[in-house]
Amino acid sequence: MITVSIDGPAGSGKSTTARLVAEQLGFLYIDTGAMYRAATLLVLSLGVLPQDEKAVVEVVSESNIKLVHSEEKLKVLLNTKDVTKDIRLPKVTQFVSLISSYSGVREHLVALQREIAKNNNVVCEGRDIGTIVFSNADVKVYIDCSLEERAKRRLLDLKRTNVRTTLEEVKQDLELRDKLDSERKNSPLRIPNGAEIIDTTNLTIEEQVKRVLDLVYSLKKV
Ligand code: DC
Repeated sequence: MITVSIDGPAGSGKSTTARLVAEQLGFLYIDTGAMYRAATLLVLSLGVLPQDEKAVVEVVSESNIKLVHSEEKLKVLLNTKDVTKDIRLPKVTQFVSLISSYSGVREHLVALQREIAKNNNVVCEGRDIGTIVFSNADVKVYIDCSLEERAKRRLLDLKRTNVRTTLEEVKQDLELRDKLDSERKNSPLRIPNGAEIIDTTNLTIEEQVKRVLDLVYSLKKV
């Protein structure tokens, strides 16, 4: 089985890149951020206090979070309910860094991620993929991008989904999430050993995808 890991900060273009690379290769795309978002949505919808680590870990451990690949789209199911849209709500984004900082939550979701990769070639993206989840990945990529450019891209995405916000607000949100995700104790965002760093600030999506594909094609087993 072949594993491609893609890590990087919020809004760096790693999801789009990972999805397109997986599509081109016929590999499964694992969006681990979506899994942490589904866990966060569950906590909020059950009225569990996000700060109550014990209660959070308990409900997440008993949950059934699934990524389903259908008609080229990735659907996220939470206890069989399609939550693909709801996991992008600003409220979820606000609490996802806290929920994903709990080791019990991470243990549960990392086990699911490893299970998927056991029998599938995968392109897996997140914050701890090349460092922890698949530290022996065949290809490791770290995608970086300037804060200004990431904020501009994220604002465009949000406008498309009718969320009203400003460039300054988006910038502040990204900066805060970068800080929380890279300074936390459990599995912080880091450049994995042996990762190829791709700065996408001045790259088009096609160029980013090609850079990753070239790395995969250079493997002997592909
Ligand atoms: O990629 P994203 O913005 O949808 O991820 C949402 C949050 O989930 C991110 O701020 C931190 C967390 N996350 C994580 O802790 N580990 C991962 N492998 C992926 C995401």
